[in-house]
Amino acid sequence: MAKSKNIFVCQECGTESSKWIGRCPACGQWNTYVEEVKITGKGSGRETISYSKSKEKPLPFNKVIAENYQRINSSFSEFDRILGGGIVPGSFILLGGEPGIGKSTLALQLTLDFKGKVLYVSGEESAGQIKMRADRIGKTNDNCLIYSETNLEDILIQFEHESPELLVIDSIQTIYSQLIESAPGSVSQVRECATRLLRVAKEKVVPVILIGHITKDGSLAGPKVLEHIVDAVIQFEGEQNLNYRIIRSLKNRFGAVPELAIFEMGQAGLKQILNPSELFLHESENLLSGVAVACTMDGIKPLLIETQALVGTAVYGTPQRSSTGFDLRRLNMLLAVLEKKGGFNVSNKDVFLNIAGGMKIQDTAADLAIVSAIVSSRIDQPLSAGTCCCAEISLTGELRPVHRIEQRILEAKKLGFKHFVLSSYQKNIDKIKGIEIKKASSINDALKNIFQKAN
Ligand code: TYD
Ligand code: MG
Repeated sequence: MAKSKNIFVCQECGTESSKWIGRCPACGQWNTYVEEVKITGKGSGRETISYSKSKEKPLPFNKVIAENYQRINSSFSEFDRILGGGIVPGSFILLGGEPGIGKSTLALQLTLDFKGKVLYVSGEESAGQIKMRADRIGKTNDNCLIYSETNLEDILIQFEHESPELLVIDSIQTIYSQLIESAPGSVSQVRECATRLLRVAKEKVVPVILIGHITKDGSLAGPKVLEHIVDAVIQFEGEQNLNYRIIRSLKNRFGAVPELAIFEMGQAGLKQILNPSELFLHESENLLSGVAVACTMDGIKPLLIETQALVGTAVYGTPQRSSTGFDLRRLNMLLAVLEKKGGFNVSNKDVFLNIAGGMKIQDTAADLAIVSAIVSSRIDQPLSAGTCCCAEISLTGELRPVHRIEQRILEAKKLGFKHFVLSSYQKNIDKIKGIEIKKASSINDALKNIFQKAN
């Protein structure tokens, strides 16, 4: 007999408890426990579903044959790149992002251009709405089956019946299994649906693109458990009011992370941007103070980004430090180094830092550009024309080398930069035709190279 039991489940991490708890002891989040019904015992329906036809035995390592599937290329080379070179058959890809950012649009575009049969399951929109979107994108595909359904069991029946070569689920939070009594979107439902979809995907070697929502704080809605189940987590970022979107791979069992690609949302869906650096560089007639260009690297692709700083006299007693797109603690550290090692008095100044275009910089190679932008604003003098900065700054005020320097320099050269300031500890790089390489060992040394007149 199936027995049902009421339990409380943390919607963040999936920890279960027999009573309600204010703060989850596992993940430390507050107010995340929600009551759910759990069906246990014989007759719960689980035992009626048999997934594995053959009983696999443990194998010695040398008898194991490496899986070597041909990757499937999508119509977006940039999407393939962040997946590590195309979609791996049987892989389970989670596409996360805030509502309205373009997840359904991307999934539909991938579907419409897919060479092979696709089952596009939508629990959010009717088939008619999806057709309208496809008309807007201006494409159609007879091999694409649209199925507006939220019941997992029905979806699995159609999957079995149609044998598609790609399955899209939009979104995992709307799908529910009738074997579980909790509401769609709850941890139990999401976990159950994802696990069962995963099993059929692996069994039939069909890739699945799962769309998932993101909570306010930027984590994937509901369960961390989902991140553990899937092979790859691809996350959409971007400001709603800007028309480009950043797609980042946060986890990838079949490729390197992090990788980043930039897409532009236009009248006819998303368009990949092959030269994203051009997007983040602002062409101004006059040289402006407080602006420096950094050469960052997310994954294997260099990206040139403008960093902007504004330094002013503190109006209130305690100076304000504000940073958008860069870690505030690291900014404070750079300011302290600039004060102590660079001899610039910034302790009584308000400092505002902004990374152009809503980008987030994680690469420490941007340190030198950030410090240069701050100094530039402080002394109200622009950097020498055509300068790109690329070095990490240590607590001692020394410039530290960064990885893949040659690739970064070539990217800067491609975009028309004339001078490239880097660490003198950077080995094997002295000359590159068409761009002047300026080596510096410390902050002060670098600033002399960066500004026309020595400060
Ligand atoms: P959508 O893919 O529905 O977002 P999600 O699935 O992540 O919730 O994206 C919807 C937004 O994209 C909506 O604001 C309209 C806009 N959009 C365009 O600007 N151009 C287009 O061609 C399409 C299809 C959508
Ligand atoms: Mg959607």
